[in-house]
Amino acid sequence: MNIYIEKFLTQLRTVFVLAFVSFASSGVQADTSTFEDFGGKPGLVRIMDDLMINLIEDPRTRDFFNNEKQDFIKAMLVEQMCELLDGGCTYTGRDMKASHAHLSINRAEFNALVESFQLAMDKHGVPFASQNKLLAKLAPMYRDIEGPAGQGPKATSSAESMSR
Ligand code: HEM
Repeated sequence: MNIYIEKFLTQLRTVFVLAFVSFASSGVQADTSTFEDFGGKPGLVRIMDDLMINLIEDPRTRDFFNNEKQDFIKAMLVEQMCELLDGGCTYTGRDMKASHAHLSINRAEFNALVESFQLAMDKHGVPFASQNKLLAKLAPMYRDIEGPAGQGPKATSSAESMSR
């Protein structure tokens, strides 16, 4: 084969290989960069610690979280957020319907949790775009988390409230 054609084909192949590698690696980076914006799993642990502090300071959510379950809930939230952010974790908790069915959560309480979460993410410097990516995955969960239709937000018995 003509030496010039051979050289040209080699260069062409190099261009294709480089283009493919850069395309493939940009895809991988896009997948994990949001997770990295949260500081990876250690960052999520710090964010959930602050989320829990905010939830207990806020009178709209205090009674749900100010109890012995808070460490377990934090650990489950870390796993769940890590999985949602493709951080290589597997969420081992219950599904959202099963774990919230007895709580009669309303929209105002749900929004209060989202606000507390945003404050915690701000504090830890998570960029808005990455915050929004995660919040967009949480928003549709409201339909599984909200209390039974027609039931008042605080229709649980005092015994159930105590077990929260
Ligand atoms: C997108 C929003 C939410 C997410 C992703 C979320 C996630 C979780 C997770 C992963 C658990 C542990 C599940 C398990 O038991 O295995 C849990 C439990 C719990 N969540 Fe949520 N949650 C959300 C909203 C809320 C809201 C708005 C409230 C109340 C204001 C709330 C109150 C609770 C309580 C009290 C528990 C413990 C339930 C029990 O074991 O009795 N959650 N949540």
